Amino acid sequence: MNRGFFITFEGGDGSGKSTQISILRECLIEKGYDVILTREPGGTDISEKIRELILDPENGEMEDITEAYLYAAARAQLVRQLIKPALEEGKVVICDRFVDSSIAYQGFGRGLGDAVGIINTYAVDDCMPDLTILLKLDPERGSSRIAGREHDRIEQASDEFHRKVYEGYLKLEEKYPDRILGVDASGTIQEIADEISHRLDEIMER
Ligand code: TMP
Repeated sequence: MNRGFFITFEGGDGSGKSTQISILRECLIEKGYDVILTREPGGTDISEKIRELILDPENGEMEDITEAYLYAAARAQLVRQLIKPALEEGKVVICDRFVDSSIAYQGFGRGLGDAVGIINTYAVDDCMPDLTILLKLDPERGSSRIAGREHDRIEQASDEFHRKVYEGYLKLEEKYPDRILGVDASGTIQEIADEISHRLDEIMER
């Protein structure tokens, strides 16, 4: 099978993922790669509809387990409709968040624990990232970066929740050192971009 390369970006809200994703995308296109950029929750019509449902601040009564299933449902659609076919065509897929977000936010943040991994086994269907770039930024700094904009239902959660999410990410980084590349996200945009591109060059050469 002519398999491409699957990169995901992870990090707390306000960690600067979007900026780094667009820099990396441009850089890979310049190097001649065929790049597909997508996001979670979202990336397909159905998954974007699920995104609206999950993030709507009006849905305050949503149960944590319902939230976990909805993220997994959006993911199941995205994996089958877009990610797997693109990888089979040899493309580089960059996804803004993936299953690690569910483990960090629903598993650690909401306290659902191992149930989240179990639900997602079927959603992910063995399509795990080749590389995950984790932008590490203290959650208080992250929330002050997004302070001026309207908050979705997840961003509205307490500081304690966001602290647990951050700690969850650190545990994942420790557990999967070969896949997850932790990057200090407190530097300048250029410093962070340089580190990502340098590390990625090493990995893609291999
Ligand atoms: P975004 O703001 O990065 O687009 O992500 C939307 C929100 O959804 C963000 O607060 C993180 C959260 N999220 C989860 O809680 N679990 C998940 O599985 C994913 C993909 C995102």
